[in-house]
Amino acid sequence: MMNIAVLTSGGDAPGMNAAVRAVVRTALYYGMIPYAVHDGYKGLVEGNIKEMVRNDVGQILERGGTILGSSRLPEFKQEAYQKRAIEQLRNRNIDALIVIGGDGTYRGALDLSRLGLKTIAIPGTIDNDIASTEYTIGFFTALNTAIDALDKLRDTSFSHQRCTVVEVMGRNCGDLAIFSGVACGAEIVITNDTGFDKANVLENVKKAKEIGKRHLIIVVAENITDVTELARDIQEHTAYDARASVLGYIQRGGTPSAFDRILASKMGSYAVDLLKEGKDGRAIISDGIEITDCPLDEALTKENTPSDLYQYLPKLN
Ligand code: ADP
Ligand code: F6P
Repeated sequence: MMNIAVLTSGGDAPGMNAAVRAVVRTALYYGMIPYAVHDGYKGLVEGNIKEMVRNDVGQILERGGTILGSSRLPEFKQEAYQKRAIEQLRNRNIDALIVIGGDGTYRGALDLSRLGLKTIAIPGTIDNDIASTEYTIGFFTALNTAIDALDKLRDTSFSHQRCTVVEVMGRNCGDLAIFSGVACGAEIVITNDTGFDKANVLENVKKAKEIGKRHLIIVVAENITDVTELARDIQEHTAYDARASVLGYIQRGGTPSAFDRILASKMGSYAVDLLKEGKDGRAIISDGIEITDCPLDEALTKENTPSDLYQYLPKLN
C-alpha cells in the first residue's frame, strides 16, 4: 500500500480544491493513504502534515482558494530545506508527493524528485505560464473574472467617452491580458509579447479618435508599466479623457468555472494513476480538456510561445 501527500503552493488558484479532492478520493479508492500538507513547501518543511479521510474533501469542489493553504518560501531553493522536507515525509512513511502550483512550485518539485522523492506536479495558477500545458487550473476562472470587470468598465468608459487602461495579472505571462482583451474587444493589449512603446500607444490612441471611436479599452499585463501614469499621459497627449484600473487580487478568488472544475478533477485523479503505475518526476499537461504527462524537467525547459490570439486584435485604421 502506498502513502501519498498532496500540497498546494504559490499563488492560490480557483480549482485547486477540486484537484485536492480528486487526489484524495482516487487515492482512497486505490487503498492508498492520502495526507494533506498544509501551507505549501513551508508546511512541508515544518511537518504540517495530516492524514486525510473521505469527508475532509467534501463540499470543497466548488470553493475558490485552497483549503490546504499556500505559501511562498524562497528558502526552499536550498537543498537543506528540500532534504528536511523529504525527511518529514519519510518519517511518516509517505512514499510520494503531488504538488499543485505554478512554475516556481514545479522547480521545487523537480529538485525533490532529483533528491529521490517520487513527485508529480499538477499545473495550478491563474497565470497560465507553464509552457508544457495548454491550460493551467484557475486560468479560465480568473479570465472570467477579468472579463466581467472589463465589461463593467466598458459601460462607464462608453458613457463618458473615455479611454480606460486596465491592468490584469499574469506575472510575466500575457495570456490573461490577451485572452481577456480579445474576449472584451479591447482596442489595444500590451504584454511582454507585444512589447511596450509608449509613443506608439499614444499614436494608436490618437488614431482611434480619428476613426471616430467614442471610447476605448487598453488591457495591460502586470509588471510592464504603471497604468495610472499611462492613463495620465493619454489624457495629456490625446483628445481622450482617461482613467486607470488595476484589477488585482480579485482575479485570484471565486468559485471555479466549469472548465477548471473538470480540468482539476481529471488532473488530480490522473496524478494518482501515475503514482500507482510507478511513474515519478512527471508533470501533468492539458491539451484542451485532454490530459497527458511529460517529464518535469521538460515542463520547465519548454519555451512559452505567444498565444495566436494576438492576430485577432482590431486594426486601428
Ligand atoms: P508559483 O508556483 O505560483 O509559480 P512561486 O514562484 O512563488 O509560485 O513558487 C512557489 C514556491 O516554490 C516558492 O515560494 C518556493 O518555495 C518554491 N520555489 C520557487 N522557485 C524555486 C526553485 N528555483 N527551486 C526550488 N523551489 C522553488
Ligand atoms: O501567480 C499568481 C499571481 O497572482 C501573479 O499573477 C502575481 O504576479 C503574483 O501571484 C502576486 O503574488 P503575491 O500573492 O505574492 O502578491
